[in-house]
Amino acid sequence: MSKRTIAAFAAAAATALTAGGAMTSQALAQEVKVGMILPYTGVGAEIAQQMDRGMEQYLKLNANEIKPYKITIIKRDSKAPNGAAAKVDAQELLTQDKVDVLAGWVYSPDAIASAPVVTAGKRLAVIMNAGTSFITNLSPYFVRTSFTLWQSSYVMGDQAAKYMHAKTAVVAYTDYPPGKDALAGFKTAFEKAGGKVIDAIPAGGPEATPDFTPFFQRAKDDHPDVLFVFVPAGDQATAVVKTYAALGMKAAGVKLVGTGDIVPDNKLQAMGDMAVGLITVHHYNADLDNPQNKAFKASWYKTYGANATPPDFTSAGAYDGMAAIVHAVKATKGKIYDGAAAVKSLEGWKFASPQGPIMIDPQTRDIVMNEYLDEVVKGSDGKLHEKVLVTVPNVKDQCKMLAIGPCAPKK
Ligand code: PHB
Repeated sequence: MSKRTIAAFAAAAATALTAGGAMTSQALAQEVKVGMILPYTGVGAEIAQQMDRGMEQYLKLNANEIKPYKITIIKRDSKAPNGAAAKVDAQELLTQDKVDVLAGWVYSPDAIASAPVVTAGKRLAVIMNAGTSFITNLSPYFVRTSFTLWQSSYVMGDQAAKYMHAKTAVVAYTDYPPGKDALAGFKTAFEKAGGKVIDAIPAGGPEATPDFTPFFQRAKDDHPDVLFVFVPAGDQATAVVKTYAALGMKAAGVKLVGTGDIVPDNKLQAMGDMAVGLITVHHYNADLDNPQNKAFKASWYKTYGANATPPDFTSAGAYDGMAAIVHAVKATKGKIYDGAAAVKSLEGWKFASPQGPIMIDPQTRDIVMNEYLDEVVKGSDGKLHEKVLVTVPNVKDQCKMLAIGPCAPKK
């Protein structure tokens, strides 16, 4: 065969393949394959379960709305939070499993590493947790239903100055992209409101829980009004609260504040009384009083048992993420595999979530939502609860609003 004949043959074969593919997906038009990238083993396994349950509850509570489509979830393990496995997961889900949409990503390095694959794959990719602001700038197919650390940390910095009247702060943060965002977001707002960050302490990585003692001892010796902490939830959160108590920091006049990642609902009861009085900012807590959260929790406990750990912010991000996918399926009349159309259908999408009203910002593809200033209190039932002190409505990602560093739009 001449070169030209080979090229023509290849083109014909490609058309046949596409046609075959289209026929197959038409025949199965009702089935939507969602490729789910979550840490099913390792440090994030508990979070993956919280998120699986969040999605499951959305599908259960909205079974009628989803018809005539059928959502099939294909799960892949992103393992350690370093991006390596997540990137391979994304490649395999797209090329072998031929998924219509990608979703998941607990840890920012996993979403960052997957970004070039997502762009090449041209499928909608719903970030259900990873919270580093600039991630959505890495691919036009990313839409985020979780949060950014700039949203919670910026509001916490503002409230630490204005509500708590703190003048000085020390920041301790897990030393990877969302931790750096937490530091920057808190510091920007706190100092704008007249406070001063007097020390910033990198406190280990996202995988192994460090011994926080040396970091918090340094913070105690700095004598700030508040110690602001970000860690990526899980067992690190429990260790933060334990170390703060063990070092007698409260009695020394240092108040512990943080993003809600330091008091995830699924860890709160196990923290016990030492968590009482902690002040954090987040977009969800299991005690939020709205009809969607009531229905969500009722179904959750019915499914997983009255003694199950409650849903937390990661469950809410996954619940909302599945709602976003179902919206895109319906809005594209089943053609959610057209990534550009799927993304477009979500720009400006509004939804009544268990966390309150949410929207996808049409400019940034990030979520816009309420942030709540919460205090941990002990209820008459003997359990710990989150009491909302202040609601800040419709918070956008401040890193993009202020166009800071990699958050600035590409020129
Ligand atoms: C992240 O890696 O972006 C991340 C993980 C866990 C959290 C928050 C952010 O709780």
